[in-house]
Amino acid sequence: MSNQEILDQEQQHYAKAARIKYFDIVIKSGKGAILTDKDDHQYIDLLSSASATNTGHCHPHVVEAIKQQAEQLIQYTPAYFANEPEAKLTPRLAKLAPINGPVKVAYGNSGSDANDAIIKFARAYTGRQYIVSFTGAYHGSTYGSISTSGVSLNMTRKIGPLLPGVVKVPFPSPWYRLPNESDDDFSDRMFDAFKLPFETYLPADETALIEIEAIQGDGAFIKAPERYLNKVYQFAKEHGILFAVDEVNQGLGRSGKMWSIQHFPDVHPDLIAVGKSIASGLLLSAVLRRAEVMDALSAPRNLYTTAGNPVTTASANATLDVIENEHLVERSAKLGKQAKAFFDKMKDRFDFIGDVRIYGLNGGIDIVDPATGKADDDAATQLITQIFELGALMITVRGNILRFQPPLVIKETDLNKAFSIIEQAMQELNDGKLPPAKPMGW
Ligand SMILES: Cc1ncc(COP(=O)(O)O)c(C=O)c1O
Repeated sequence: MSNQEILDQEQQHYAKAARIKYFDIVIKSGKGAILTDKDDHQYIDLLSSASATNTGHCHPHVVEAIKQQAEQLIQYTPAYFANEPEAKLTPRLAKLAPINGPVKVAYGNSGSDANDAIIKFARAYTGRQYIVSFTGAYHGSTYGSISTSGVSLNMTRKIGPLLPGVVKVPFPSPWYRLPNESDDDFSDRMFDAFKLPFETYLPADETALIEIEAIQGDGAFIKAPERYLNKVYQFAKEHGILFAVDEVNQGLGRSGKMWSIQHFPDVHPDLIAVGKSIASGLLLSAVLRRAEVMDALSAPRNLYTTAGNPVTTASANATLDVIENEHLVERSAKLGKQAKAFFDKMKDRFDFIGDVRIYGLNGGIDIVDPATGKADDDAATQLITQIFELGALMITVRGNILRFQPPLVIKETDLNKAFSIIEQAMQELNDGKLPPAKPMGW
């Protein structure tokens, strides 16, 4: 069946809430960084299934581990009995966690439920109710994680009331910066904004948790200024508030380090949420946390029938092997430098490119109206549409920001081919050769 025939079959029954509309394709297969659709068109994947396949599609070592485990035992619930791949993965993840002291691990099925679990653990451990998160955050789609998110009105319309006790503070996004403001002044001013709720209505001694994406993903690929994050972290420590980092999008080598929080050497989180790429796309997430925080909750307050399932944890063990053996963290850092050089060169050439933010093989490129400097969603959509036509799959975040997240195993020849495609599309946009594009995205 063709792309269109399959979509016709699916679409009248597929819930609108569960897909953000981009291109009318059906992905048939994937190998490394190359995807093939049902019409046998091939694309260089610059999205990695939303950063869920850092090891690339169908890595042979991961496939073998899944096959072997599936032949032995597909599921027995870890909520009652351990299984061997899970028991192997647990100390491995604990050792990898950038957390001081002994670490414990709780599994889930999605990044969203990992972020819910963080709220539960923090409330139980501190005996406090309030949760602080940031505008621009995407923590997930369950009621807890959607309540701590703040990236799009479309996420929360019509579904309120959300989880009570959640307070949002502004993330230090570059567009809040005043003209000619120094880095330090910007951090200090944003830290003042962070403190305002605590000075006016939010008792710090009743606050359980501050949760942040140290590098926001869907929020536009923005790394918090180090001075700012250090101050927020110190504030948390001074007031006995737990500090959590959401690594679901940016973890596992994506940002050029194993964990994005390692870009901030003075910050030592109490809790970390991991998901997406941990099992190369199988349904697994984890909360990693200081042991005493974990022990604040007993069963069954955070268990799921399939969390820590043998096939998903076998896949996670194989994924960690690949990350280590193929030095994917270093590769992400190295190829990320090439990507930054490429996009910086494009920025010098085309005045519709605003800010370029690249951390590892990962980042956002702002498309703006050269006359006003304001976001240009239409131009960004024209670009990704043409990039798609030319054979690479890329989407936008926040309407006008190109999302660049190829698998970390991408071959350099494919990366360079992707750069040529993007360059050609940008040249055509510049020359006024691209037709108006159909609206798409969030
Ligand atoms: C930073 C971050 N946290 C959590 C999530 C939610 O993960 P999931 O969609 O697996 O529930 C996402 C998904 O995009 C994410 O980017």
